[in-house]
Amino acid sequence: MHHFDIVIVGGGMAGLRAAIAAHDAGKKVALISKVYALRSHSIAAQGGINAALGNVDPDDTTEAHAFDTVKGSDWLGDQDAIERMTADAPQCVYELENWGCPFSRTEDGRIMQRPFGAESYARTCYAADRTGHAIMNTLFEQVTKREIPLFEEYLVTNLIHQNNHVQGLLVLNKSTGEITAFEAPIVIFATGGAGRVYSQTTNALINTGGFFGMTLDAGVGLKDMEMIQFHPTTLYGGTGILISESVRGEGGILLNSEGERYMEKYAPETKELAARDVVARANLTEILEGRGIEGKYVHLDIRHLGAEKIKKRLPGIRAIAMNFAGIDPIEKPIPIIPGHHYTMGGIDSSITGETSLEGFYAVGECAAVSVHGANRLGGNSLLDVIVFGKIGGEEAAKKILPKGDSSFIQKRLEEEKQHIENLLKREKGENHYQVREELGEVMTRYAGVFREKEGLEKAIQSIEDLQKRAKNIVVTHKGKIFNEDLEDALELDGMLKLGLAIASSALYREESRGAHSRKDFPNRDDEKWLKHTIFKLQKEKIIFEKKPVTITKWAPVKRTY
Ligand code: FUM
Repeated sequence: MHHFDIVIVGGGMAGLRAAIAAHDAGKKVALISKVYALRSHSIAAQGGINAALGNVDPDDTTEAHAFDTVKGSDWLGDQDAIERMTADAPQCVYELENWGCPFSRTEDGRIMQRPFGAESYARTCYAADRTGHAIMNTLFEQVTKREIPLFEEYLVTNLIHQNNHVQGLLVLNKSTGEITAFEAPIVIFATGGAGRVYSQTTNALINTGGFFGMTLDAGVGLKDMEMIQFHPTTLYGGTGILISESVRGEGGILLNSEGERYMEKYAPETKELAARDVVARANLTEILEGRGIEGKYVHLDIRHLGAEKIKKRLPGIRAIAMNFAGIDPIEKPIPIIPGHHYTMGGIDSSITGETSLEGFYAVGECAAVSVHGANRLGGNSLLDVIVFGKIGGEEAAKKILPKGDSSFIQKRLEEEKQHIENLLKREKGENHYQVREELGEVMTRYAGVFREKEGLEKAIQSIEDLQKRAKNIVVTHKGKIFNEDLEDALELDGMLKLGLAIASSALYREESRGAHSRKDFPNRDDEKWLKHTIFKLQKEKIIFEKKPVTITKWAPVKRTY
């Protein structure tokens, strides 16, 4: 058994930043990651991180950043949290710079900034179109320098909790097959997103969302789970790879089969740089109304930017288009469709990362503080993970909680070993990959860009059927070392609970707001739904609660771009 003051789960940006903060506050910290930390999905972030530095647009302010974020969220974001995030942004970005993050530069050597969707000023700081790579390596160096223990290739299988208090974690060491326990009075989840509950997503294979199931099992609610972001531009052709918003920030335009620049119809002022939900709906509407190319996709055209700018500012995008679509965007437009991208809801947590379970914190994409509300702005996710990762680590370090009950932890460890042994002993049953695939198809079909009652009810029914089948899954490979069959089987239960949370929350919220677009309730309804939805499971029964949205300065008004 391992003993630490604080255990952080997740080796992406939020986890690394939280680990640095808690370590610097003098705590004995461990970081657990189910993959080599630098393979965490944050490494794939392309476009950039928002901060009102004013390097390109000197009139920009943190207040303007806050307002853009509130409006972007369709007023569902909590304004106290948004004000905190945007106020802390410049300092957090300068800290990364001081740690050596290789941001792209202005002529006079300051951090370069580009326009992004729904921003009033060019505010997104970037490192070409590989910003995630640059920031992840910067943070990883800081973690390495501090010699913070990293448990990589360890999969958390369960939270240990008793009397509404976290006691630690049950963990599978993937390289040996050993099940072990981490005893810690404080656990911080920085477990990232959950794209793999959809069949078409920009998210890496590791973004299963299994951790949300553990959270529900521990009695903690999930907030605003209906708020799923569909990125307007993902590569058409089956991979769903992200084609960064920075392409439109640099001047890329969207065209339908008639060669029409259709965003002029949907967002006359901002066009391709409207908020993501607006552009995603426009792209899909063009395809559904028969103006898609070959009836299936639309074009993102950057040929007019010229070869030099494309090679300098968008080298990664060019490589993706060439390698995965066989198209050089210097010569031809990129075929794109909207695709699942981001979980705007998440574990119901406060600005400090605390949840309703004592000692259990959540930061980054897995958490809903909530700063993104019903629609996140591009460039605000990297900011969220850095700002709230730091705050979560610092705040958790201030908390003094008693040690766990060793005999209870030992009992939970034995139960988990038995559970996994029983699973491995089963010789016949359901193929868990088949169940997972069906979940992805159901979510994409019924809980996508446009939703309505009938489809969501079908989704819920299908997921409940899949849950019954999942009780009898079989693990075919019985080995101990890197048994991916077993690891994937262990994550299925959480994925199904997450699917249920998303579909049920989407059915529950009877209005359209931000990315949640109900065909049967096409308008925003502030009177009934200017509220956060909280989804809980109590003995497998779904419970909903509502929480007020914090408004500080900006009363809701109609949202247009
Ligand atoms: O389009 C992008 O580069 C994605 C950025 C983000 O999700 O913040």
